[in-house]
Amino acid sequence: MITMFPKRAYRILVFAFLLHGIGLAPVFPSPQQTAPATSGKQKAQRNSGDAWWRHAVIYEIYPRSFQDSNGDGIGDLNGITSRLDYLRDLGIDSIWITPMYPSPLVDFGYDVSDYTAIDPLYGTIADFDRLVSEAKKRNIRVIMDFVPNHSSEQHPWFKESRSSRTNPKRDWYIWRDGKGPGEPRNNWQSWFGHSAWQFDPATNQYYYHHFYKEQPDLNWRNPEVRKAMYDAMRFWFKRGVAGFRIDAVSRLFEDPDLHDDPIVPGRNAYGDPNILHKYTDNLPEVHEVLREMRRVAEEFPGSRILISEADEPNISELTKMYGKNDEVQLPMDFQIADVNKLSAPDFRRLLDEVENNPAGGQPHYFFSNHDQPRQWDRYGDGEHNDQIAKLIAALLLTPRTTPLMYYGEEIGMRTTPPARKEDVQDPIGKIGWPEEKGRDGERTPMQWDNTKNSGFSSAQRTWLPLPPSAAEYNVESESRDPNSILSFYKKALALRRTEPALQHGSYVTVDRDNPFVLSFLRKNVGKGNSILVVLNMSAVPQTIKFDLASLGIKESSSKPLIAAPQLGPDATVLAHFTIPAFGVFIGAVH
Ligand code: NOJ
Repeated sequence: MITMFPKRAYRILVFAFLLHGIGLAPVFPSPQQTAPATSGKQKAQRNSGDAWWRHAVIYEIYPRSFQDSNGDGIGDLNGITSRLDYLRDLGIDSIWITPMYPSPLVDFGYDVSDYTAIDPLYGTIADFDRLVSEAKKRNIRVIMDFVPNHSSEQHPWFKESRSSRTNPKRDWYIWRDGKGPGEPRNNWQSWFGHSAWQFDPATNQYYYHHFYKEQPDLNWRNPEVRKAMYDAMRFWFKRGVAGFRIDAVSRLFEDPDLHDDPIVPGRNAYGDPNILHKYTDNLPEVHEVLREMRRVAEEFPGSRILISEADEPNISELTKMYGKNDEVQLPMDFQIADVNKLSAPDFRRLLDEVENNPAGGQPHYFFSNHDQPRQWDRYGDGEHNDQIAKLIAALLLTPRTTPLMYYGEEIGMRTTPPARKEDVQDPIGKIGWPEEKGRDGERTPMQWDNTKNSGFSSAQRTWLPLPPSAAEYNVESESRDPNSILSFYKKALALRRTEPALQHGSYVTVDRDNPFVLSFLRKNVGKGNSILVVLNMSAVPQTIKFDLASLGIKESSSKPLIAAPQLGPDATVLAHFTIPAFGVFIGAVH
């Protein structure tokens, strides 16, 4: 298993050591929500009940890698638009597109130099508007990425800020004197290696950067910064975006007294001493900002959403992200995404925890993303990877959650890291080679078919190479195979829409002590079916004695709706249910 993103290494450490506008019409206004004015009643309607995002499946698109429309080897907005029919047919309700703002691309878009424009590499604002409106025709909402913690050093705000100590924008970023010549103020480390302080000789001070030095942190204690960022959100809301995934939100504030972070044993992939980011992560003021952002979202009709990217270390920190239903609706659940082995007890415990979170918030699960090695090889045992991919799909799509997919997981794309340092694109792969190979492996182009560059691009050379596995694992060939990973995803996504229990049913774990098989019931509140999900996370067939009578289930066997592999009628008798190695069963029970 390759450890790609330093976050992962950091998290392991923490556990080990703590044991511890232009005024376009909004996209999907509900009939009673046609004006942007926000009455108390409208707010209550948006906050509660059956908002669209509770039942949506969100699909993350890394725009460089989804579809190239102009032959430059890099994906773009028109490319995404050209693939909307695919997403509709797959059963997707919303796409989250990672940053496509103007950027010097040091961190491939997470270094923004203009928050209210589109990078020409990806297209124009007109292309963006067309994407939103074409997506709307297919009932697909568009979610943008918002990067509030830091801008690019090329942002005009930072250029002004660094120009002199007395510039009006000086305080928009975090500037401090060093301790002495060549010595930063404290031991704070960048997530991407080495000191988080960068000396700027022009004014003889250091600026703080939680990520690359080309990504200076904005000063969220400055009200002008807040206003400018909230106005940027409004700019996109007015163009019809359904919400934002908010990047690195727990990093917005740092200790004003600049205490040193605690050092813990060992060194990271960059050769730095390990530290706990105690004074630069998760400071309480983060929640004040999230409440303000939520108020901005509620200025607009149609239940706009906020998704937080924050790798919270435990359920109580994760729960805080919901606030009192006045912060984010969907905090990405890294606790579940970070389980790196197929473990029924671990998944059962974590799903139960978030299901019962005291804020009553909606769970938001995912397994892969552009920072995280892909699930096909992360959970695969090398022998049953395709079968395990179906099992993970069922685990994502059948509990009570708003699932977040990552492009290509539905065809079993694998992590393909560069073989040579000179091929690395992601700077952390250059800094940390060979221990840290960067995140290129999970960002390779989408595999559409068996033509040149797998149908991604007509270019001679694509920004990252297509992996050899693309010849077998691609949309076109898997569409023809009823037993492919893609066909499994399509069936599971369709079932989510048609089975009321998968939409509205409660989530109840059953057979709770089983060390190998994760089983749960989506219990329908009305008259229809409840759904039994049985996932064998072991390489050995398992037999289970289900006793579901206390949950109101009267029938003695379950009718298969989706099973991989297929099960005979004897296998699905509840008193001696038999499931093969890594088997997946989704069945109806009354
Ligand atoms: C999290 C993003 O997902 C990652 O790709 C990026 O490098 C950092 N935040 C910094 O913005």
